[in-house]
Amino acid sequence: MRYLHGVAYLAARGFLQHLLDELPDYNRLDGELVSRWKEEPSGGTSTETIQAPHAYWTRTVWLEPFLMEFDSISKAAKGMRAMQRNWAPYPTILQRRTALIAEALPPLPLKAKAFPFGLPKSPMGGFTLLGENLLLGSALCSSPFPNGEFSFVEDKLGPPSRAYRKLWEALLLAQTLPNPGDFCLDAGASPGGWTWALAKLGAKVLAVDRAALDPSILAMPGVEYLRHDAFTLKPAECGAVDWLCSDVICYPRALYEWISLWLESGLAQNYICTIKMQGPSFDRETTELFARIPGSKVLHLWHNRHELTWINLKSWRDAPEA
Ligand SMILES: C[S@@+](CC[C@H](N)C(=O)[O-])C[C@H]1O[C@@H](n2cnc3c(N)ncnc32)[C@H](O)[C@@H]1O
Repeated sequence: MRYLHGVAYLAARGFLQHLLDELPDYNRLDGELVSRWKEEPSGGTSTETIQAPHAYWTRTVWLEPFLMEFDSISKAAKGMRAMQRNWAPYPTILQRRTALIAEALPPLPLKAKAFPFGLPKSPMGGFTLLGENLLLGSALCSSPFPNGEFSFVEDKLGPPSRAYRKLWEALLLAQTLPNPGDFCLDAGASPGGWTWALAKLGAKVLAVDRAALDPSILAMPGVEYLRHDAFTLKPAECGAVDWLCSDVICYPRALYEWISLWLESGLAQNYICTIKMQGPSFDRETTELFARIPGSKVLHLWHNRHELTWINLKSWRDAPEA
């Protein structure tokens, strides 16, 4: 087993090119796994570290990559099992052989999960084959889900769109939920998937959109609807909100300017907003502005499309090192 200096990034589904643009000096590409690591020279005890630049367009990052030579499937599985339990296969070449190794490992928790649930605490690894007898793996990945992927048990009747799944995922990562009675502003609410998810938690929701809200959502207890351009709605007109949520389709800069008003006002406690990229490009400059706001995380969620999610919590602003 040879530990490597650096990390490997698994691209967000459909956004390999964005990730390659973020990591122009990668040294290997296996499927959508972008490597940025170096091998220790043989016999070396180098303490060289390779900077692992932050990249947004990932579904998970292999944090402790290693190369392992093996002469049989069972020996590969045994070597990995000795490190920890959970290993997600990422087949690129030799798909059958990769699958046989995966079958020799403990089963992964792949069942759809009912919201809310606690994030898995045990480490999640990943592996792929670089040759018949050579495996690239990492016992620790940034996402606790296999290859960063998971699914919710979905409600096919209540919500009028499936967009609620990305709000659920953001709330899971925030590890905090709106409390019953919390006041939420849901900007760009139509047809009402996010409003549905918030109201189901017992929150009071002001749903704002230029388009209509689904009548079944309008009828939910605690839901109010305002037909309005969200960006001309000033914080002082709304008053204090516990959660400011936005899924408005707009240029990232328009969202940033509106959010800046809220940050200045101090009237919003917590924020979950999608930063939607317009056209095929990635607005890195505005994304960085969001990321630099104290107490922020900007992530590509498994349920995101061509968008990133900005999460900013009062508890993170109060304890930035936590
Ligand atoms: C992706 S959809 C929102 C889906 C919604 N979150 C759900 O869960 O069903 C984006 C919404 O943004 C709304 N929108 C776009 N510009 C807006 C603006 N300036 N003010 C308010 N709503 C806006 C659109 O009308 C559209 O309904």
